[in-house]
Formats: sequence, C-alpha cells, structure tokens
Amino acid sequence: MRFNSANINVMVKASSQASKIIIRDFGELEKLQVSLKGPGDFVTASDKKVEKILIDELQKARPDYSILSEEIGEIKNKNKDFRWIIDPIDGTNNFMHAIPHFAISIALEHKSEIICGVIFDPIKNELFFAEKGNGSFLNNQRIRVSSRKEIENSILFSSGHNEEYKKISNKIISPVRNFGSAALDLAYVAAGRCDACWEKNINYWDIAAGLILIKEAGGFISDLQGNNNYLENRTILATNSGINKDMINLFNS
Ligand code: 2AM
Ligand code: CA
Repeated sequence: MRFNSANINVMVKASSQASKIIIRDFGELEKLQVSLKGPGDFVTASDKKVEKILIDELQKARPDYSILSEEIGEIKNKNKDFRWIIDPIDGTNNFMHAIPHFAISIALEHKSEIICGVIFDPIKNELFFAEKGNGSFLNNQRIRVSSRKEIENSILFSSGHNEEYKKISNKIISPVRNFGSAALDLAYVAAGRCDACWEKNINYWDIAAGLILIKEAGGFISDLQGNNNYLENRTILATNSGINKDMINLFNS
C-alpha cells in the first residue's frame, strides 16, 4: 500500500479474513448448483458467517465504534461518531449462482461523513480502497475515473431491475452492462473501467464504500436528477467528469 492508514489496514485485514470463508463457500456453491436442494439456505448461512467475521475483526481493532450491517442491522456503541457500514456480500445473487462477481464492502463514517472505503472482490483478488484526501487505489495502484467525454463512446453499468434503462435505451447507442453488484459497479467507475453507473433501490451499505472511491478518484455522485438526495431517493448516479452533465440530461429530457 502506498500510504499507511491505520483504518484502511483494519478494514483490509477484516476483509482478508472474511474472504477465506467466501472463497471456501464459493467452491461449495459451484457443486450445489446441480443439487436438488439448491443453494438458498447455504448462501444465507455464508452471508451471516462472513458478516460475523467482519464484525469480530473490526470490533477487535476498534471496540467502541458503532456498526450498521446488512444482516444484523444497527449496533449502537459507545462511540457514535465513528461507524462501520458493512455489506458482507454485495452481489448475493451472483454468489448464489456461483458467478464470480461479488464483493465485501466496508466503509467508515465519521460524524455522518464517509472517510474510508474498502471493496474487496475475493475471487479476482482485487482490493479497491480509498481514504478521504488520500486518493483511490486498486491493489497498490492509484486509480482515476476515465477521461471519456462522449456517452456514445462510453460503457455504462447498472445492476438490478431497472425501468430507467427502458427510458433511455432509445436515446443511446452505448452498451449498458448489468453485472449484479452495485459496490463493484462503483469501484469500476472509480477505476475508469466504465464511465458511469446508476443504481435503483439501493441501501446505504450497497454504496457507502463506493461513494468515497468515486469521490477520491475524481468522479461525481448524485441522484438521477443531478441532486444530492441519493440516499433519500435510494437512487444513485456515479460518473466521470466528462459525461456527468450529459448523463443527467439523458435521464431528465
Ligand atoms: P446485495 O447483493 O447485497 O443484495 C443488484 O442486485 C444490486 O442491488 C446488488 O448490489 C444488490 O445487493 C443490490 N440490492 C439491494 N437491495 C436489493 C434487493 N432487494 N434485491 C436485489 N438486489 C438488491
Ligand atoms: Ca448489497
């Protein structure tokens, strides 16, 4: 790692511990696809195991921080200023179908502002992380959003069910990919692999780490109207700087 951040180190260590279970369970899931019982209960159990490891590791290092996590919900602790926001497996549907595209997502909030984010894709061994004021990284390399300025040359991502795509599909020729992990979509925009993404019906834990990755990589975040109400609306648009205005116009014209 290029910079030494105690908080990022704690988050990376927790993700690394949890990823051992994910990788082992992923191997089982590949086998379970053909069994009659199906992978449903197994996935729920994995999700909970992964969450427990993450919480145990984070609490070992920072015993008094509060926590918000997808399965367990809110854990109010002595320190209410600092809070971990955890999605143990983002892209659960992919995981369930043994598709190797999902991630652990952990963010750290200080007084409601996200100051650190880690998104770890354990199968591809890609660690995306960012800290406020210190930039965004993939493994040990600094990442930046792309410099593309035309939507027609862009690749766009959007995961989940999406009526918005129907509204804009006749106005664009750009490919729109649905890879099924909001956290990885945001990490890929931060890394310049795609130029913009939008997500509907998101929960805070799906995007918390991605928010800081985008900001520290020079990208833009808003709701689909171009305003700041993405958490209230549960709808987010993340773009590079070159196509930001055109993407907002696309959804609002
Ligand atoms: P998850 O895998 O943690 O549920 C595409 O499905 C993206 O939307 C994923 O990042 C997924 O996160 C997220 N998402 C959030 N709520 C969802 C829901 N109710 N159904 C499906 N996906 C959801
Ligand atoms: Ca999620």
